[in-house]
Amino acid sequence: MICKRDIKQNPKFESLKIIGKSSLKGKVKISGAKNSALVLLAASLLTKEKVFLSNIPDLSDIRKMKNLLESIGVKITENINNREELIINAENLHCGNIPLYLVNELRASFFCIGPLLSRLGKASLALPGGCDIGKRPVDEHINGLEELGAVIDKKDGFIHAEIINDKERLKGTQIKLGCPSVGATETLIMAAALAEGETIISNAAREPEIQDLCEMLNKMGAKIIGAGDPNITIKGVHKLKGCSHKVIPDRIEAGTFLIAAAATLSSIAISPVIPSHLNSVINKLIESGSEVTIKGNTVFIETKKINGVNIETEPFPGFPTDLQAPFTVLMSKATGKSIIKEKIFENRMNHIEVLNKMGASIKLEDNTAIVNGVNELKSINSRGSDLRSTAALVIAALASENDCLIEGLEHLDRGYENFECKLKILGANIERNLTKNFSKESSKNKISLENIGEISAA
Ligand code: UD1
Repeated sequence: MICKRDIKQNPKFESLKIIGKSSLKGKVKISGAKNSALVLLAASLLTKEKVFLSNIPDLSDIRKMKNLLESIGVKITENINNREELIINAENLHCGNIPLYLVNELRASFFCIGPLLSRLGKASLALPGGCDIGKRPVDEHINGLEELGAVIDKKDGFIHAEIINDKERLKGTQIKLGCPSVGATETLIMAAALAEGETIISNAAREPEIQDLCEMLNKMGAKIIGAGDPNITIKGVHKLKGCSHKVIPDRIEAGTFLIAAAATLSSIAISPVIPSHLNSVINKLIESGSEVTIKGNTVFIETKKINGVNIETEPFPGFPTDLQAPFTVLMSKATGKSIIKEKIFENRMNHIEVLNKMGASIKLEDNTAIVNGVNELKSINSRGSDLRSTAALVIAALASENDCLIEGLEHLDRGYENFECKLKILGANIERNLTKNFSKESSKNKISLENIGEISAA
């Protein structure tokens, strides 16, 4: 079944009408990973030759990244027969000042600093601010680049990075990250790929997206070993060439559908996935009472009961912070108590307020949610205010007794390709419409964003 949405509409003026008590059934196709695709697009800047990327999801974040790359001279061609395939040609890359609105609209655009610096010898980007899930500093990126020999100047909200030496190359070194930041690990791998000599990054992030990045860079001629381990060694090379690469499946989208199936006591299959990327999530779903079967690149889930289990978000291979909000919805309907600790971001518990208004019983103590499961949720019109919590509200609505409208789809569309179409294929009663006069009411139930700018991130 072809399932595409008309993206001419502005999702800020749309809402999802969801009829509760949904039961999901069937198989859903998982798209390419947003977080991989974004960094692979940035990595394409490292060569003058063409890079062929496939399995690119059609998401607003990806469109923003494409716009940004085009603004610095990159030519991007879409396969007209298959929009998931792109050819990126960064031969005529130039170094513009990447402005604040582009960096803040898409935090991952900051990850271009590494490739821009090592390809052009300088880079100039606006400094990203905080965002709706936390402060999200970039100190690890900047310290690491300085250790590689970049001269960094912060002025008027911009970061100017430059290589000032005879060889015009960064110099390999040993970098120990203060925390295993995904973005910083990616920035530094890309910067070190063209540096002189060897770089060892310790306490590196181990996420599958890092492994995907290193696999593509190695196809381009980089010499990287240890991706997926806390120590990554990069032997710098003079030049990288073009390549073809297929983006890995989106483990967060996959996890979201598994959790949606569990919360609605349903039985579905998701494919294609790399099951090992989902271990922590699958283990928690099994612990909470779901039956999960893996056959090749397909995961089947059948849920007849939901028991309370505890989770703590952690860097990979731990439970992903991006699935904490959806899992909290599942736990709000569990039998018994569960304790959910958010340990990665400091402000990622905004959905709790709306869930409590829906009848959930959740006590929030700093970044720990103590959830006492209830039998029923009663959905209310609400507005999500970041990507994953908006998905969580949709799951809560599907698992509720009544009907509701959900706004904030500009967040959802950043990271879920055709979310409601895929749910509809699974039998959900869900419809996207132009918003009609419920905004005032829904803003009462907006996930609170006190003192925090509405900047897209995650
Ligand atoms: C990436 C993902 C995001 C995911 C997150 C954690 C992308 C585009 N986004 O975001 O979906 O939720 O990983 O798995 O890939 N930190 C610092 N200093 C830094 C950088 C990070 O202190 O320089 C801290 C952050 O504040 C946060 C933690 O490290 O508390 C993790 O952040 P990080 O792994 O960098 O997340 P992102 O790469 O931004």
